[in-house]
Amino acid sequence: MSKTYNIAVVPGDGTGPEVIAEGLKVLGAAAVRFGFRLNLSTFDFGGDRYLKTGEVLPEGAADELRKFDAIYLGAIGHPDVKPGILEKGILLRLRFELDQYVNLRPVKLFPGVDCPLKDKGPEHIDFVVVRENTEGLYAGAGGVLKKGTPDEVAIQESINTRKGVERCIRYAFEYCARRKKMNKLTLCGKTNVLTFAFDLWERTFYEVAREYPAIKPDYAHVDAITMWFVKNPEWFDVIVTDNMFGDIITDLGAMIQGGMGIAAGGNINPEGVSMFEPIGGSAPKYKGKNVINPLAAICAAGMMLEHLGEETAGKTVEKAAMEVTGRHIKSLAAGHMGLTTTQVGDLVANLTAKL
Ligand code: IPM
Ligand code: MN
Repeated sequence: MSKTYNIAVVPGDGTGPEVIAEGLKVLGAAAVRFGFRLNLSTFDFGGDRYLKTGEVLPEGAADELRKFDAIYLGAIGHPDVKPGILEKGILLRLRFELDQYVNLRPVKLFPGVDCPLKDKGPEHIDFVVVRENTEGLYAGAGGVLKKGTPDEVAIQESINTRKGVERCIRYAFEYCARRKKMNKLTLCGKTNVLTFAFDLWERTFYEVAREYPAIKPDYAHVDAITMWFVKNPEWFDVIVTDNMFGDIITDLGAMIQGGMGIAAGGNINPEGVSMFEPIGGSAPKYKGKNVINPLAAICAAGMMLEHLGEETAGKTVEKAAMEVTGRHIKSLAAGHMGLTTTQVGDLVANLTAKL
């Protein structure tokens, strides 16, 4: 009997449905080739549903999603909905309610992809950011006083719990050990200024490090990290950091790997259900034009397969995507690929079937 994986598919807004369709095409090819089944259930969460029903996420949605083996998400964000409503009400709420405490973001320059950094190639850019995904400034702690008056006060606090910090750091050490690349884990913080939060991070980091003698613990301030991503990206293997810093440095990471068209991520709950997504957003101006790059969504599908335990299938999807960037595609940018969205999906699916 072949294995069956129950996948919740949330295509979402803008170009989400188009890129997810290509990801599903590739997943289908991988399933045939590697002998597993996918049982897909689609959910219509997103801007259109919100505009129709006034409901961002229906009651019980997180509980419903919890029953699946994984969630495959396209993009959230709609031009007719005020920024923040859908992002907070769907994406962040799911990350929090499903306790997906790690946001895993590989930064890898594929062959043939234009890198904005001078003299840097695929051999220099291949690291992974482990971003804490449920705490920090994203926790929503704080408040406003005297709003709209000259005396207005706005407070937004960063929440860091020993438990939250430690589980994220442990995940990063485990991940680094499994990756077997440089066996180096860098904590990205700001211990010189954020002396409460990053003192907790730093102490926890070095305590946990003692349990992993094979991994070299390393530290860098977040501002310096942005400098080194540009100057010496080859220094990095795995980086662990808090939610806000992780958000910022992974956009920079996406740029040095060739742009949002290729950047994938996983919201991981190692003990529960995880959610995989291209990190680029809904790109509404390209919606329905068959020009958006589906590679980020395809790579997210590959990450999902690895997470489900289909390691070879996941690696093959990545290899197929690398073959496409190396040989077939002109540019990663929407409208400049020299191929349509569906053609890119077809190519990766065909290569996944035979590589
Ligand atoms: C990301 C996004 C989200 C975040 C937004 C859309 C809420 O930028 O996944 O990085 O800030 O986490
Ligand atoms: Mn972001």
